[in-house]
Amino acid sequence: MQVTLKIFRYNPEEDKKPHYESYKLEAEPTDRVLDLLEYVKSYHDGTLSFRRSCAHGVCGSDAMRINGLNRLACKVLIKELSAKKITIEPILGMQVIKDLIVDMEPFFENYRVVMPYFVNDEPPPKRERLQSQEQRERFDDTTKCILCASCTTSCPSFWANEKYLGPAAIVTAHRFIFDSRDRAGAERLKRLNDAFGVYRCHTIFNCTVACPREIEVTRAIGEVKKAIATGKID
Ligand code: SF4
Ligand code: F3S
Ligand code: FES
Repeated sequence: MQVTLKIFRYNPEEDKKPHYESYKLEAEPTDRVLDLLEYVKSYHDGTLSFRRSCAHGVCGSDAMRINGLNRLACKVLIKELSAKKITIEPILGMQVIKDLIVDMEPFFENYRVVMPYFVNDEPPPKRERLQSQEQRERFDDTTKCILCASCTTSCPSFWANEKYLGPAAIVTAHRFIFDSRDRAGAERLKRLNDAFGVYRCHTIFNCTVACPREIEVTRAIGEVKKAIATGKID
């Protein structure tokens, strides 16, 4: 089949403003959008810039807007897209460095605010910090995050104010707050109970729709809000 890729192009060092370039390609229905981007880069224009690493939905580096929705380019097959014209743009709300590459540093600054690591200063037990199956299941969903930023950059509250910590940071906070072995839940809740914390979320659900790992993002945010409101982590 023949498809047309319409790709957002912008090199701030040379271009006054962004523009789109279109490329007509032969594609198999089972090709992924990432395969076509690689093809354009190899055979049409080597200056096309985008991030990718694992190419298998694990690293989270190739989130982009594909026909208006945040997706991982390595996980979208051409046959899943109804139109033969495929528009590819960078994720919204972040500064474009070049073409489809955005500056992720503000995203990771927000991520660091929630202390994205295990905290427990108690002396370690002789063998290991035990956890029941139920305790592990409590935060299983949010362990799946690959930090692709699809959720945060599809959130209208984040578009309105980039200081909002965003759903990805809250998902990470959730993963540690509800881990029975961790001891910094109260501090994380304090940081999230802030003008730019969880109450910037107005339950719009774009984040949940955008998540390529099918994490129940809005639900996790709701659980964090409840823990703040009740003062209880359970
Ligand atoms: Fe990506 Fe989902 Fe993690 Fe958000 S919660 S960063 S969409 S994997
Ligand atoms: Fe935004 Fe998701 Fe809340 S889209 S408003 S973080 S439910
Ligand atoms: Fe790693 Fe797509 S390239 S998730």
